Amino acid sequence: MRKPIIAGNWKLHKTISEARELVQQLQESVADVSDCEIIVAPVFTALASLASTVAGSKIQLAAQNCHPATSGAFTGEVSAALLKDAGCSYVIVGHSERRQLFGETDDFINAKVKAVLAAGMQVIFCVGETLEERDSGAMFDVLARQVREGLRGLDNDAMRHVIIAYEPVWAIGTGQVASVDQAQDAHVFIRGLLAGFFDKCVEEQTRILYGGSVKPDNVDGLMAQGDIDGALVGGASLKAEDFIRIVRFTRQ
Ligand code: PGA
Repeated sequence: MRKPIIAGNWKLHKTISEARELVQQLQESVADVSDCEIIVAPVFTALASLASTVAGSKIQLAAQNCHPATSGAFTGEVSAALLKDAGCSYVIVGHSERRQLFGETDDFINAKVKAVLAAGMQVIFCVGETLEERDSGAMFDVLARQVREGLRGLDNDAMRHVIIAYEPVWAIGTGQVASVDQAQDAHVFIRGLLAGFFDKCVEEQTRILYGGSVKPDNVDGLMAQGDIDGALVGGASLKAEDFIRIVRFTRQ
């Protein structure tokens, strides 16, 4: 019922020509994959060029961030509509690196979520606790606050265009993947939160991706969990071979 998504977050890596080369390798190898959405999120400067490369293929483009305003005096920022114009279908919003390194608040993230939806794209909305929050027992409160505030003001219809990514901060880029039970528990909790805010169908239909050190050797176990609907992959998405293996996770 929930079509899996494997999304590669390339972060601050790859020139335009390197990005094109990687996408071409991926395209050939995933041409037969129809039971999974495949997304890559390159840097802004590669988006427009990659849009023509991926046209007609199984690969879709995401941006890694956007600004909530549609236009105006916001030097250095990019609006959701401009990202759509460049060929994006998705925008990642609220990644923990944006929250931690750039001070993004729940309110600001909520405004971005709304801007992406208003521009007619899908949003990949990230949440996740730090190790300190997990160890101190605050994890569920943190996730509840991030989900409640980040999705504030959205209705059931808008939620059809929202994908949630659960990314425990302590697992991102550390090689320390959450155990399948830790990931599944968090996903069940997040799905339960949706039940409190929206209609039952939103709880059932919203795709929740896991992110944080997803690799070829752990993707199968994660994807076997009932509430894990895909993966947001950082480091392993930069190598064609690894990302292809992740897209080809073992179907149950
Ligand atoms: P990682 O990054 O796979 O390198 O841990 C995941 C992410 O930041 O989305």
